[in-house]
Amino acid sequence: RFERLWFGASLVLIVAFIGTIIYGAVGPGIAMVDDSGGTVEPSVIADGNYEQTDNFREPGVYDTEDGVDVYVVARQYLFQPGTSEPIRVPAGEEISFHVTSPDVTHGFNLAGTNVNTMVIPGQVAEFSVTFEETGEHGIVCHEYCGSGHHTMEGKVVVV
Ligand code: CUA
Repeated sequence: RFERLWFGASLVLIVAFIGTIIYGAVGPGIAMVDDSGGTVEPSVIADGNYEQTDNFREPGVYDTEDGVDVYVVARQYLFQPGTSEPIRVPAGEEISFHVTSPDVTHGFNLAGTNVNTMVIPGQVAEFSVTFEETGEHGIVCHEYCGSGHHTMEGKVVVV
């Protein structure tokens, strides 16, 4: 009798489908793929208090010996910096982004690049990008985060 065999086969398929869906929903959203194709795990902020990190207390662009670090706080409904003032970074250098949220889950999508990550409260989404050319890239929040979600956007200016 083949019934048992078919039942087993469809069970395997169903499990595989569910696994794919869960991976699709959770996996890539959390593990950020950067320009070099590598993945970066988000780091977790102890107690979820992002302000214990100096750089998040004063978010912005930090020039260090190792390169350029950009700290961004995504909150309802703005990117800080990014929205009221653009994030200014140099072309041709590796820019390390660190993005966190104090309220709800936001998205961080950088137009013209493959940067597309979730910003989860209590975690820091980290990824690096090298902008080869000067110009502007819009930042869009692509995770529904409340009534002002559609207005949540910003800008990166590469100089
Ligand atoms: Cu923030 Cu949508």
